[in-house]
Amino acid sequence: NAAMDAGILLPSSPSVVFTQDDIKKIAAYKAVEYVESGMVIGLGTGSTAKLAVDRIGELLRQGKLKDIVGIPTSKITHEQALSLGIPLSDLDSHPVVDLAIDGADEVDPFLNLVKGRGGYLLREKMVESACKKFIVVVDESKLVNYIGGSGLAMPVEVIQFCWKFTAERLRRLFEEAGCVAKLRTFGEKEEPFVTDNGNFIVDLYFERSIGDLKAASVAILQLAGVVEHGMFLDMATTVIVAGELGLTVKNK
Ligand code: 5RP
Repeated sequence: NAAMDAGILLPSSPSVVFTQDDIKKIAAYKAVEYVESGMVIGLGTGSTAKLAVDRIGELLRQGKLKDIVGIPTSKITHEQALSLGIPLSDLDSHPVVDLAIDGADEVDPFLNLVKGRGGYLLREKMVESACKKFIVVVDESKLVNYIGGSGLAMPVEVIQFCWKFTAERLRRLFEEAGCVAKLRTFGEKEEPFVTDNGNFIVDLYFERSIGDLKAASVAILQLAGVVEHGMFLDMATTVIVAGELGLTVKNK
């Protein structure tokens, strides 16, 4: 199942200098080229996914896309899509999603992902695991040699009840990988971050690789108190990577 690189698509000309944001936008727009009229589309969350949702709204307005149904992965994306006039539904009414477009926080060489640094991992995983095609858009900084390799958080959504107990059980699961578990907070008062689903997020940091990702996933999900984790294993079908030299498309 090795990932395949499909080459650089957008060499920047010497006379045009693209900013990182421009490149992200071009990559998001590239992902939207996979959207066809009549499709049910999973709408991701985050700064990159937002650009893709804007583009879908624009193409609908221009009449270049028709009969799209959007399935948002967060309350914030729901609001954005509503304001753009994208017809919306949910998994109850549309249990099969043709295509989803979203960002990610880490992408490993096998196209396994970490998602959820924005805190939306649960709905993202529900929608994106119902998809026939899942297109991920990232910049090069998100590419890692192994999951956890960025040294940044791997989020786990937990219920609020006795979250410290759950955080400690999570830490102990990955003691050999030098795991640190921290409750996600926001603002100067360091209030707990509450997800769209009313839960907390425990961020896991690893000093070393956690090894077998499927085994890690099973072990995390077996803990009572855990709702979902941010490893998206074997889910992405295409990853579009935006780099200084342009776009690279990696297919499963
Ligand atoms: C939110 C996510 C985002 O997709 C991820 O954090 C990437 O965001 P951005 O495109 O802003 O870098 O998983 O839960």
